[in-house]
Amino acid sequence: MKSLRRYWETHHGEVSPLLRIRDRLQSKSHPLEASEIRELAGQVALPEATVKSVISYYSDLHEDREAIRVCQGTSCMLAGAEELQQELQKRKNCKAAYCLGYCDRSPTLLTAQDEVICSQQATALVAGEKTPATAETPPLSVRCLAPEPTVTKRAGANYSSLEKARSAGVYSALAQALQSSPEELLSLVERSGERGRGGAGFPTGTKWRRCAECPGETRYAIANGDEGDPGSFIDRVLMENDPHGVIEGLLLCGYGVGASQGIVFIRSEYPTAIKRMQEAIAEAQDAGILGSSVLGSNFSFEISVFPGMGSYVCGEETAMLNAIEGLRGEVRIKPPYPVEAGLYGKPTVVNNVETLVNISAIVKKGAEAYAATGTAYSSGSKALCLNHGFASPGIVEVEFGTTVRQVIEEAGGGAGGKTIEALLLGGPMGSLLLPEEWDVPICYGAMAERGIQLGHGGMVALLEGTDYSALLEHWLRFMMDESCGKCVPCSLGSQKAWNLVRNQSADPKCRAQLEGLFEVMEEASLCAFGQYITGPMRQIIEHFGDRIFTAGGG
Ligand SMILES: Cc1cc2nc3c(=O)[nH]c(=O)nc-3n(C[C@H](O)[C@H](O)[C@H](O)COP(=O)(O)O)c2cc1C
Ligand code: SF4
Ligand code: FES
Repeated sequence: MKSLRRYWETHHGEVSPLLRIRDRLQSKSHPLEASEIRELAGQVALPEATVKSVISYYSDLHEDREAIRVCQGTSCMLAGAEELQQELQKRKNCKAAYCLGYCDRSPTLLTAQDEVICSQQATALVAGEKTPATAETPPLSVRCLAPEPTVTKRAGANYSSLEKARSAGVYSALAQALQSSPEELLSLVERSGERGRGGAGFPTGTKWRRCAECPGETRYAIANGDEGDPGSFIDRVLMENDPHGVIEGLLLCGYGVGASQGIVFIRSEYPTAIKRMQEAIAEAQDAGILGSSVLGSNFSFEISVFPGMGSYVCGEETAMLNAIEGLRGEVRIKPPYPVEAGLYGKPTVVNNVETLVNISAIVKKGAEAYAATGTAYSSGSKALCLNHGFASPGIVEVEFGTTVRQVIEEAGGGAGGKTIEALLLGGPMGSLLLPEEWDVPICYGAMAERGIQLGHGGMVALLEGTDYSALLEHWLRFMMDESCGKCVPCSLGSQKAWNLVRNQSADPKCRAQLEGLFEVMEEASLCAFGQYITGPMRQIIEHFGDRIFTAGGG
């Protein structure tokens, strides 16, 4: 039997074995029998062991599909999601999810019928007061502190139909770019100073150039809509409300780097985003925007949606490539980087959804005008997601250079009279900022100089009285549940650390043991997950350790 990779080298273009396995499992209401796995393995031409290992990796493939997903992301956890799940599962089938993208209205639930129930409606449902059908979702707040909105231009309302999108100017940047050469587009993006918004702030033009210059005919462009970091939801909102803006960004990427196939990878926790993107792609195909002659030019480009299957780490670009190829979503060793050897070994650009939506603004504005906005190190603006604790949660777009304090006070409205003890910025791999650090400008350069991770821009306000021991346990649980299992410091280290905090945090030796484990994770983990998730936990221990290690070990 061929290995999975070999299979894909000859069969890419067909439906991924992972999707075929998922479809087969969806028609079954129980775990597959050995004989059924054998049959399925034969159908997808894979070894039985591979099929079993794939099913065991992706939670959507082995967990109960009818269960209500109860978000246990940080914002929801702070809003009482654990107690909510305990209560709900007395009456209904539940399972934990890490972020459903409604962190501004936590706690949040997602039913098997794809209904999102949040905030007081979620609490009411648990109390048996309302059914999912009658519960209403409170509205999203989208604001802009930048001189003009770029990424959030169409995020506040539903621009998912082609007609509305076109009337708001979508695809005019594409038409403009198609009048010039791919080289001119590459140069424009390089000169704009655009940096990826997915977390690392890598220069987008450099990434595109490297991919474009790799030899070979076949290249891929992928929009990363996995948005796994609990606390971020801008990508969900863009894919739901501005799907044509995402398509335009991916088309521009494909044109610049010389790709003719695009994929939008979207987590299964975002069912509406998957649906809207699929509908928008079909509309764009019918209108000749996608296909063999994009807007009548000789550029050809197709896009498909690939749904995630319940793995946080699949947001990491190489794990995502493995998932699309039908493998377990484990991180690959780099180099080679995806721009050199990505999907099926071909040069591949993976860009965050928000990064891609910015590209049309760069084309329209011009590289130099775009580069003149923001700071010298970070051009343009960033959408920040304000979660639990803020008086006015929601999305706020700010020009790079705006301080964290301005965001907290002007956009977030503080904590409605309560004291914010610390700010969690950028999700679990982000940073913890005490009030004395809030004058730092939002900028990849200025923040990096101070060791601050902006991540994808989620913000959680930690109020006076926060249980930091519970927060520590929560992050370690997240790490333990979501580790891809490729390396020992992350997969086993997280289990050991979680056990320590859960059972022995009052023991004076716990702190030193924990810090020892963190050191091993940081030094020896393969990817940023194991290397950076310790950051906010270390800061919590440093500043609030006396409230965690209560028996004097702090
Ligand atoms: C554990 C892990 C999870 C990640 N999850 C995401 C994600 O959900 N969305 C995203 O855009 N990038 C995520 N990234 C970063 C991607 O690997 C990649 O750098 C990014 O999509 C590149 O896009 P950009 O250059 O536009 O930022 C993750 C990285 C790691 C290590
Ligand atoms: S650090 Fe964790 S998530 Fe990253 S490769 Fe290792 S086990 Fe996987
Ligand atoms: S919806 Fe719960 S943390 Fe995001």
